[in-house]
Amino acid sequence: MSDYVRVAAVGEIADPGRQTFEVDEQLIVLFHVDGEFFCLDDVCTHDGGPLGDGVLEDHQIACPRHGAKFDIRDGAAKTMPATEATAAHRVKVENGEVWVRLSNGEADSASVENTTGESTGQAAQSQSILGAAPASTANALDASPAESAAIGSGANAESPNSESANASQTPAELSEEVVREELKKVIDPELFVNIVDLGLVYQIEIRPHEEVGQSDVYIEMTLTSPMCPAGPQLVANCKQVVGQLPGVADTELKLVMQPTWTPDCMTDDARDQLGIF
Ligand code: FES
Repeated sequence: MSDYVRVAAVGEIADPGRQTFEVDEQLIVLFHVDGEFFCLDDVCTHDGGPLGDGVLEDHQIACPRHGAKFDIRDGAAKTMPATEATAAHRVKVENGEVWVRLSNGEADSASVENTTGESTGQAAQSQSILGAAPASTANALDASPAESAAIGSGANAESPNSESANASQTPAELSEEVVREELKKVIDPELFVNIVDLGLVYQIEIRPHEEVGQSDVYIEMTLTSPMCPAGPQLVANCKQVVGQLPGVADTELKLVMQPTWTPDCMTDDARDQLGIF
């Protein structure tokens, strides 16, 4: 573990406020909240976003890129899409000066000391709120998301054989359960878990499309975060897999942000995959 390095005078950082520093060629963020100082790596564990540029609210900092929140006291990831804590570093305050000691990835207790040397005992954690995401393949589908990012009704992508397959089926064979099972083929590229088990699919309706003797499928789903970069890709993939089901004429997919998705929406299967107990 490195030695303490002086980074600022107490009065140089607003309360509440934060400032980014470089210590031993490592970018860190020093937070000042309610008279206490905390220090984290300036790196979001989701995809490297600069935490120091995010919105600070109470003891949480929101990554400016996709919105994951971290507890500034211990670095714990509090919301998706981040699943792992960012590093927390020890901070001490002596004679009006703020000092930081880098944890260098070691299991350690980041703590804050006041001018009397009393520790406030902020525990550093390397734990993840969801556990490590499996090192696995990316999306199970090869869909091109670009042109399908638009939300709403439209013709579905079809495989070369889907037309004849659809014609030989009746709409009665379609059901919410069939669509739900098919949607399990759509894998969230951030978490490597299917969108059904993640609890992202809120509503499925099968609507008769009498002109063509088939059915339209209406889906309401959400994202783990309003800024989820995988949104267009998930929409495209959903429309592709459902559109290939026998008896489907059109697929309409609506993204909704209410009710807000939380990890509580996940099934036990998803929790198992993500190591949440
Ligand atoms: S990089 Fe921080 S939430 Fe994606």
